[in-house]
Amino acid sequence: MDIGIFHTSDEAARAAAQIVIEKPHSTLGVATGSTPLGLYAELRKAWQDGRFSASSAYALDEYVGIDADHPEGYRNVLRRELLGQTGLTGETLHTPDGNAEDPVAAAAAYDFAIGAAGVDLQILGLGSDGHIGFNEPGGSLVSRTHVEVLASTTRHDNARFFGNDPEAVPATCITQGLGTIMEAKVLLLLAFGAGKAEAVTHLVEGAVSAAWPCTIMQMHPEVYVLTDEEAAAGLEHADLYRERWSALHSERRA
Ligand code: F6R
Repeated sequence: MDIGIFHTSDEAARAAAQIVIEKPHSTLGVATGSTPLGLYAELRKAWQDGRFSASSAYALDEYVGIDADHPEGYRNVLRRELLGQTGLTGETLHTPDGNAEDPVAAAAAYDFAIGAAGVDLQILGLGSDGHIGFNEPGGSLVSRTHVEVLASTTRHDNARFFGNDPEAVPATCITQGLGTIMEAKVLLLLAFGAGKAEAVTHLVEGAVSAAWPCTIMQMHPEVYVLTDEEAAAGLEHADLYRERWSALHSERRA
């Protein structure tokens, strides 16, 4: 795991963009939520300058039963952020079908499509409860894309996108499984703010456990974890990570 600790989330987003841009014309896995927005802004700039173009992208997750026109549906969020501005088109941006009559079958079909395409680089955010994708605590560490029930902490965390009403946040979603995510060649996780500090500590220094699903990333051979100072506040070996990052990635110090 390579851990980059940055003064601000903007600096981390610029360093993250450099990592993505080094893989031109790649198949990306893309997260939603607020964390990757700075990175997506950097990728749009890079596309405008001709420095980057994604060949296709697969979303991590989608709410089940959300209205197709709802602005917080993840397909719509990703269309706004990425479509026509990073090389992606409506045909090359893939999302799970949260409105399928049979969400279980839709999840399986999505998993098959991801496996066939192969994700070069998976962008991840981190839930305050340690979820990646929407793999909530207590699930299988080798799960495939599946229907998941959102933890109440997650519905509270995401209420800010739904008029501050946790009840308005859909209760279920289709998410790439941990086993699916782990098949991406590179994992790039961003985490910002004090609310992520406990999860970051488990992710980097905790025991691998379904209680903190993100800890499965310790078993992946190429992982970048980019944080701001607040999210890194609980790391016991922060000084070592800083030294390692500046030795290996001085060009990414932003
Ligand atoms: C979103 C996703 C989630 C979020 C996580 C953090 O597609 O899979 O794991 O990355 O809930 O959300 P934010 O970035 O809003 O704090």
